[in-house]
Amino acid sequence: MATFSGGGDKNEATERHAHVVGWGMAVPESALTNEELSTFVETSDEWIFARTGIRQRYIADEGESTATLAYKAAQQALEVADILPTDLDLIVVATSTPENIFPSTASLVQDWLNAHDAGAFDLSAACSGFVYALNMAADSIRAGSIQSALVIGAETMSRILDWQDRSTCILFGDGAGAVVLQASEVPGGVLSSVLRSDGAGSDLLGIPSVGSIDADDSRASSNGAKLYKMYMAGSEVFRFATRVISESIEQTCTAAGIQVNDIDLVIPHQANLRILQAAARKLGLDADKFMSNVERYGNTSAASIPIALCEAIEQKRVQDKDHIALVGFGGGLAWAAMLIRWGVPEPSEQHGSMFNRQRRHVQYRIAKWRSRSRRWRRRVNRKVREIRV
Ligand code: COA
Repeated sequence: MATFSGGGDKNEATERHAHVVGWGMAVPESALTNEELSTFVETSDEWIFARTGIRQRYIADEGESTATLAYKAAQQALEVADILPTDLDLIVVATSTPENIFPSTASLVQDWLNAHDAGAFDLSAACSGFVYALNMAADSIRAGSIQSALVIGAETMSRILDWQDRSTCILFGDGAGAVVLQASEVPGGVLSSVLRSDGAGSDLLGIPSVGSIDADDSRASSNGAKLYKMYMAGSEVFRFATRVISESIEQTCTAAGIQVNDIDLVIPHQANLRILQAAARKLGLDADKFMSNVERYGNTSAASIPIALCEAIEQKRVQDKDHIALVGFGGGLAWAAMLIRWGVPEPSEQHGSMFNRQRRHVQYRIAKWRSRSRRWRRRVNRKVREIRV
């Protein structure tokens, strides 16, 4: 199991803190470049790259889904944290493209991992979903109700895009990122969060679904959006995003008692490079303090922050005791920021012990068997009841 380096002051040491101890990501096999996109949509690589900073995105094929990507990212995060799925108390999947309305994608991941002692639910807050979910999990850890949580952002945006609408279909991609959060007495981890929403902007960005007031027989809503297809007022969303990124980061710094200049790295939702550059200017921070990988993944909605976090760690841009700001923004309108003081697990622990790795693999195999046998038992019981009647 992951351990923490570094001490802390004695007063804080008796408190519970929520630390990120594991991380992982997964994207589909196939990438779709701007050039390829421009063969079936009226657009160009030059236009897309100049306006958004995007060059390509990953698109799920038939065998891939929100849950399969979430599962892969989760397995990696458990590996880094070196804990067993059975140690998890909670699984939250932030997504706007769930596998089903219900059961939750989190429940599927729970079953596939054999995390049989974990509660599981999906959280809907669009591109801010991962920060919302991390905040919920961190608060549960700090309140003492759970010890460890798996928090995932996972999306298959390609399935809700209108591929005829060049103003939206060029922006999004598929993927998943996951972190394991764990209780610790070591000060740090999640320091503060700011969660906000402005539902008056619900007509600017969204995906109408089955319960929609506008879902009539023609399957179109009053603002022209189609059922299960994304609509967006691009320029208004752009202005909203640049405003709330800087505001919410300032608020979360104030709540944590640090200055904006003390931030070592901002890991923002990856919507558009120009949004991130404008937000950095507003905050008076160097653009290199903003992690960006939108060029390779496009906007993966709730998955973008954990994917960018994984890459920042891999590139050694996250160090022990660093102040990391996460910020999400999007449909709702909703936005959220969080400040983390990083506590990196000891390097020797980062790859997990061979023994635990084998135990995890056994548990994944057991998960399949357990799930099948439960279904089979239910079927047999049903037959027995029918025969008795
Ligand atoms: N390729 C080529 N031309 C395109 C195009 C595309 N993919 N999409 C739109 N255009 C055209 C428009 O039709 C318009 O043409 P016109 O001037 O002849 O009418 C022109 O480009 C400008 O369109 P506009 O929508 O004003 O462009 P923009 O500079 O605002 O950029 C976005 C559009 C979508 C890239 C930009 O508004 C944006 O990034 N917004 C934020 C979106 C976002 O991040 N949403 C998710 C938040 S979580």
